[in-house]
Amino acid sequence: MHAAVLSASDTPPAYREHPEPVAAEENEMVVEVLAAGLHHLTRSKATGSHYSSAGAFPLVPGADGVVRDPTGRLRYAVLDDTRAGTFAERTVIDVRRSVVLPDGVDPVRIAAAMNPAMSSWVALRRRIGFTPGQRVLIIGATGNAGRMAIQVAKLFGAGQVIAAGRDAQRLAGLAALGADETCSFDRIERAADVDVVLDYVWGEPAAAAMIPMLTARADRSAPLTWMQIGSMAGQTAPIPSAALRAARLQIVGSGIGSVSPRDFIAELPEIAAAVGDGRIDVRARPVPLAEVARAWTAETGERLVLVP
Ligand SMILES: NC(=O)c1ccc[n+]([C@@H]2O[C@H](COP(=O)([O-])OP(=O)(O)OC[C@H]3O[C@@H](n4cnc5c(N)ncnc54)[C@H](OP(=O)(O)O)[C@@H]3O)[C@@H](O)[C@H]2O)c1
Repeated sequence: MHAAVLSASDTPPAYREHPEPVAAEENEMVVEVLAAGLHHLTRSKATGSHYSSAGAFPLVPGADGVVRDPTGRLRYAVLDDTRAGTFAERTVIDVRRSVVLPDGVDPVRIAAAMNPAMSSWVALRRRIGFTPGQRVLIIGATGNAGRMAIQVAKLFGAGQVIAAGRDAQRLAGLAALGADETCSFDRIERAADVDVVLDYVWGEPAAAAMIPMLTARADRSAPLTWMQIGSMAGQTAPIPSAALRAARLQIVGSGIGSVSPRDFIAELPEIAAAVGDGRIDVRARPVPLAEVARAWTAETGERLVLVP
């Protein structure tokens, strides 16, 4: 079969002949891959920079995807740490880490959306007791996951959603997705009275936003949960100690590890349904798997989806 094969962390994968995958364990099955998203997680797991990565080469990247099982059913599958990922004509899935998809879904939309959509969905459902009416600030709202977070927060009944980002033109498009307000990072105090922050950026911008935001709160003793989800601006953030004293701030994270695989999987059918019926808007661009080398380093706002 053909696959994308990564031989080192600093070179793109090559499209070439590769041995067929083999199902070795109980619950495993060989499946045909229909579409696999090129997410940040996919790249960072493959190149060894993600905290859950094994970092051994050669490997076939691909952390998730839409596959056809031997009975002909479409499934969305999440792979565990593996050197036989979804950027291939066939791969091996653990059936317990997959969900059967409704008839008629578009594999490319599902493959593009599930990873970014689950970031806010799982964070709000599984990491905190989010309740309708609560107000949400999204930092990094112009990205794929941030755009979906606006829609997910609204689906969950958020009372107000404020979208923060650095690109004024992209921010302007977010009202159409349900954002009640938008703001740049240097005007973050406009979101001072939210209950939950969904932070995809971290690093300097998140740390710099904290004090102005916290000191502008009408009631500093009202609980504020800062949910660390992504780290686009830096793996570390120099958080001032005063931030933890000046307001009732709680910093938590959501991702692989802080949420169990079982809890992630339990949310997948509902997320797939929301993506499938259009409640969550998706920016997806299919790319032939043969063009993986170019796609690997492409800079685009759309989520690229490799199609074998
Ligand atoms: N924990 C989880 O469950 C989970 C799940 C999915 C994704 N994630 C993480 O979430 C993050 C975002 O993923 P994505 O799919 O939305 O990526 P994306 O589509 O590439 O969007 C990236 C976002 O980050 C912003 N950004 C990038 N560099 C920045 C910087 N230096 N300063 C400020 N903003 C910056 C971008 O702003 P512009 O629009 O201005 O470029 C954009 O809003 C990634 O770190 C990803 O790994 C976590």
